[in-house]
Amino acid sequence: MLRVTSLRCEYLENPLGLDVKHPRMNWKLISDQRNVKQQAYFIEVALDEIFQSIEWSSGKVLSDQSVHIPLNQINLQPFTRYYYRVKVWDDSNQESEWSNTAYWETGMLDASNWQAKWICASNQRKIKDNPEACHYLRKEFHVNRPIKKARAYASALGLYELQLNGNRIGDFYFTPGWTSYQERIQYQAYDITTLIKEGRNAIGFILGNGWYKGYFGFEGRTNIYGDKKAAILEIHITYEDGTKTVITSDDSWKATTGPIQMSEIYFGEYYDAREEIDNWSKAALDDKTWVPTKHLSYDKYKLIDQRNEPVRKVEYIKPKKIIQTPNGETVLDMGQNMVGWMHCQLKGNKGQKITLHHAEILDKDGNFYVGNLRKATQEITYICKGDPEGEMFEPRFSFQGFQYVRLTGFLNDINIEDFTGVVLHSDMSTTGSFESSNELINQLHRNINWGLKGNFLDVPTDCPQRDERLGWTGDAQMFFRTSAYLRNVAPFFTKWLKDLEADQLDNGGVPYVVPNIIQKTSGNLGGVTHSVAAWGDAAVIIPWSMYLSYGDKRILDVQYQSMKNWVEYIRNQGTKEELWDRGFQLGDWLGLDSEPDTYSGATDKTLIATAYFAYSTDLLRKTAEVLNKEEDAKTYRILRDKIKSAYQSLFILESGNLTVETQTAHVLTLMFELASENQMEKVAANLVELIKKENYHLTTGFIGAPYLNIVLSKHGYHDVACRLLLQTDYPSWLYQVTKGATTVWEHWDSIKEDGSFWSDDMNSFNHYAYGSIGEWLYKVLAGIDSTADKPGYKHILLEPRTGANLDWVSASVETMYGSVKSEWKISEKDMQYNVNIPANASATIVLRDISPLQVTERNKQLSDIEGLYQFYRNHTDTVIKLGSGNYSFQII
Ligand code: BGC
Repeated sequence: MLRVTSLRCEYLENPLGLDVKHPRMNWKLISDQRNVKQQAYFIEVALDEIFQSIEWSSGKVLSDQSVHIPLNQINLQPFTRYYYRVKVWDDSNQESEWSNTAYWETGMLDASNWQAKWICASNQRKIKDNPEACHYLRKEFHVNRPIKKARAYASALGLYELQLNGNRIGDFYFTPGWTSYQERIQYQAYDITTLIKEGRNAIGFILGNGWYKGYFGFEGRTNIYGDKKAAILEIHITYEDGTKTVITSDDSWKATTGPIQMSEIYFGEYYDAREEIDNWSKAALDDKTWVPTKHLSYDKYKLIDQRNEPVRKVEYIKPKKIIQTPNGETVLDMGQNMVGWMHCQLKGNKGQKITLHHAEILDKDGNFYVGNLRKATQEITYICKGDPEGEMFEPRFSFQGFQYVRLTGFLNDINIEDFTGVVLHSDMSTTGSFESSNELINQLHRNINWGLKGNFLDVPTDCPQRDERLGWTGDAQMFFRTSAYLRNVAPFFTKWLKDLEADQLDNGGVPYVVPNIIQKTSGNLGGVTHSVAAWGDAAVIIPWSMYLSYGDKRILDVQYQSMKNWVEYIRNQGTKEELWDRGFQLGDWLGLDSEPDTYSGATDKTLIATAYFAYSTDLLRKTAEVLNKEEDAKTYRILRDKIKSAYQSLFILESGNLTVETQTAHVLTLMFELASENQMEKVAANLVELIKKENYHLTTGFIGAPYLNIVLSKHGYHDVACRLLLQTDYPSWLYQVTKGATTVWEHWDSIKEDGSFWSDDMNSFNHYAYGSIGEWLYKVLAGIDSTADKPGYKHILLEPRTGANLDWVSASVETMYGSVKSEWKISEKDMQYNVNIPANASATIVLRDISPLQVTERNKQLSDIEGLYQFYRNHTDTVIKLGSGNYSFQII
């Protein structure tokens, strides 16, 4: 049995409107045998589903490549669906059947293909003197013969919802998504074949302010990218008779305002149902009172296709209970800190005002608490129309980060059944699962996962609730590897890295946030808006990590200049080219060893900056090697050596003691291999001494925490790492879990031991940065890692580390090749270790402190097992190299 499944084009399942000129194909192999490798593949691309008109075929290609195969020879046409299928041969020459057929469909392919014009309401004042009100734009059109297929291509300046004949088109939210709008605006493609009918049709947009022109950022700016909401649309109809028409947005459209009088990302929505316009997106509406639209001259060359998964309604949560707070307020408790909005059903009198306020937490006394939201009011107001049948409501262009919802204005008894929490985020496929015998660790894992769900809403954000919600580069970098275990984040970050590059400064500097909207800062942010260590390094670390996680070489190629520009930027900052010792740094953000009233931990900032400089330079060198840029590889190898020596002479004494005695300084020195071989042991031992001084607690902030356990486990102190993980008092990962957290907090003590909160100024209960411990759960406890020489889990490293008083750990990661599973269980008599290695991949298993004689697989000696390449003893460990398959080891 050999099957080809899960065909993907540019990571996506049957995408519409994909404008990649040479898209890459992936598939997975399924086999019930062990050690299955692909020996050859055959791809067929056709214009029809039954492969009669073959557009291109690869022929039989001898290759074991099953991911990222670019269709280099194909000459794609716009607005065209291409079907593809694949068959393979394994290395025993067994031939598979054809896979199921998949497809992708091109969109504009080139921005010059846009025929439509941007349009906006002509006399915005006349339609309503309220800059916040959403605009409604509409147009009727006639269809006079049977339709074969129809597509809509749409975008907006602002946020849009598209409707056709009274129906919402598609299930995407927060379209067109957030990009560096001054350079890139996405459009979306929709299949509307079944929504169009013969005869009269109507199409319409609702436009909201969104990131484009709403109130956004902690500087309180509005109209950040422009001051007019606008839309662009093309409908392409192909008739049964083969003829085609294109309907475009133009100044024959009409505009008005309606019930949505305000919809803002931070502030929620104000919806007056009495102002609803019945059937506004249906034909035959009397739109006499609507005003004309006009063309907006706005560059169409900025329009690009969407590469990441859209934001969707991904989950629904029912409230756990209704609470009466000591203040007498009625509050819903969702039981989970979540991001999205509330759907509610209600009955009210005409003009009755209902309000839903959203908050993350109740205060010490159990009262509704909004202090930490700063200016973000997260308030939904609904004015009832008085429908005796009842009314239904949910917002459109605003999202809330919340667990609690305060209800006001309800006259009748409140029925919990009438409320549903709708969780929205970028709809990336789930890849990771992790469970263990410790329920607190499992809850930590769930919290990390919820941190991802709450903060991957089209861009990776620091937090989803206060007046921030920005793409902080450092946070994204720190959490990247964890996120790549949990979900397929490749398309999500492919998009975001393009924005990073778009917003990168001419001198290579990288903004604090991407897309960048910050103009000025002060106080703890140092009066600068870009280019600090560990934040700017996202430019290098994320592409490289994507390469490791997904084997994606193209991302290295595409981002190479951006990566290089960042390293060159740093090179020009210091007093010497090998040091970064000048300028503002955020430092070990929120480190616990900070001076009072500052946010940066005690670790010397030159140390942090120079350490990251060395790391990014090293990753750039590796990237140059992968891309065969030999000159650059040499340059950056030399530069990295110089940085390392400079670092050593400033921060490492002959003895191996560091001149900076913080946990974070030791963590970086170990992680980025900045000490000499013979000093490493001493550095690690000193780190442990520092941890002991804190009675086995951490003091690390954003810089040290992500790598702390990784370096401990790597350098012989796995027991200390486990001990840190198991702590339940402050400061620790589980402290917040024992305090009832359902997401990851911004501070180690967002809620203090006495129940009081960190200052309102900066206290998010849904910040993924410290969720970066997730990487250690997967990589070290479960032991699942990719390897740089065969990245993307083509060759897997499985090195489980027991400990933390755990009886068992069971984890899996759905990789580009299929599911990698690593599951261990300890009993009094033995240890069971079950793994799965997907077909066309291989693995090295390292069993620590175990001799080969202790290991059997389904009652066979290692030497006899099927699928084995080799095994050997390495010091005290057993190393087993294997082909694909399911294996069950018993270790006595
Ligand atoms: C954000 C952080 C971010 C930091 C940078 C904060 O306001 O929430 O997570 O990295 O600023 O200083």
